[in-house]
This record gives sequence, C-alpha cells and structure tokens, in this order.
Amino acid sequence: MTTKLSVNINKLATLRNSRGGNNPNLVQCAKDAEKFGADGITVHPRPDERHIRYQDVYDLQKVITTEFNIEGNCQEQKFVDLVLDVKPTQVTLVPDAIGQITSNHGWDTVTHQAYLKETIAIFKNHGIRVSIFVDPVVEMVEAAATTGTDRIELYTEAYAHQFTQNKVAAIEPYLAAATKAQEVGLGLNAGHDLDLQNLAYFKQQIPWLQEVSIGHALICDSIYLGFENTIQLYKRQLQ
Ligand code: PXP
Repeated sequence: MTTKLSVNINKLATLRNSRGGNNPNLVQCAKDAEKFGADGITVHPRPDERHIRYQDVYDLQKVITTEFNIEGNCQEQKFVDLVLDVKPTQVTLVPDAIGQITSNHGWDTVTHQAYLKETIAIFKNHGIRVSIFVDPVVEMVEAAATTGTDRIELYTEAYAHQFTQNKVAAIEPYLAAATKAQEVGLGLNAGHDLDLQNLAYFKQQIPWLQEVSIGHALICDSIYLGFENTIQLYKRQLQ
C-alpha cells in the first residue's frame, strides 16, 4: 500500500514573513512541491498568522491539484469558518493552545468525546474528510472511533525522539495504536518530527499507514539536497 507524502509548507511561510515580501512565493512552492512528487500540501494556520496567513489558505486552494490538508485548532471559530469556506480534502483537528510553538499533544478523545463528535459532524456534513491528532495510546484510539472521525493522525514526536536509542521500543506504542485503529476501522496518518532517518522504519512496521505530513525536517534537508531531490528521497522512504 502506498503512503502519501503531504508536504507541510509552514516553514516556508515563516521564511517569507521574516522579510515582509513574497519570497519565497508560497503558491509557487506548493505547485513545485506537487510537480516534484508531493501527494498533498499541508498548512497549519494559527490565530496570530505567524507563518501561514488565512489569505494563503485561499490562495493555495486555487492551485492545489493533489490533497489539501488544513491542520489547526477547531476551538477557534475563525479556523472552523476558514475550513468550511475553503473545503480542503482533509481537516486535521489539533488541540493547540494559542501561541503554542508547535503541536505538542494529541486530543484526549475520552474527555472531549462529545465535543469532538459535534465538531467532526460539522466538517463531515460539508464533505470534508476529518482526521484527529492523537497520542499513541490504545484507549485514545478506541474513543476516537466513536467520534465519527475518518482517520487519526498519530503524533510521532516521541517515536522520533526515542528512535536513535532504541527503535524497537520506540515503535511499540505506535504499532499497538495503529493496530487498534485498523481493528476499529479508522484510517491512519502520522506526523511530527519524521525525517530521513526514522521514516522508512515507521512505514515498514506499519505498512497500512495512509499518509504522513512532514515539514520541518524536509525543509531543512532541502537546504542541502534541494527541494525536488528531498521530496523524492522522502517518497522513497515510503515505498
Ligand atoms: N502534524 C501536526 C499536527 C503538526 O502540528 C505538525 C507541525 O506543524 C506536523 C504534523 C509536521 O511536523 P514536522 O514539522 O515536525 O514535520
């Protein structure tokens, strides 16, 4: 089974914003990423618009021909309105706090089960596929299945962190969570801190993985290896 590579272009927006102009041009970057083999483009607009701006999302929607994935905090009404307006292929719901540097935990799907059910129904009624960001905990995956979500995205920071010391131990909770997802009929995505060292093993161990979204490491690697070559190298890890 092929695993799709969705390229997260937040970092390119950070670079652009640092000088106030339009270099790099995000729309062109997204088009090029697709031309170079990306199966999708991911953005994560935050309320302070410190990287992706709300206008970027509208501009990108006009040009993306692969899968468009918008991640963010659905407790922000502005985020919900944006997603319903743009109608991407997928929305990934992340329980971010305002001002958070990057996502650092998954949904507690047990405590927030009713809220998630209600919110997911809104997106699904508009024909948008929904994924929710969860930690690799079997109980959280089980509860996710009752919310009506199509997929879960496993938060892979802990895997990436432990990988260099002990990859067998690092994958263990992910394998258990991914197996549970399969059992309860949930689609499976993964993301955060995946890179050229740890990605192939994750895919080998969990071959039913449907999509990864990768930003930070992929953009860093591109400085040395070039954007096209880097995208191709990441794709190769997923074969
Ligand atoms: N998935 C989610 C929910 C995220 O918030 C992020 C970071 O924006 C990623 C995946 C990608 O993580 P990274 O930039 O470390 O590849």
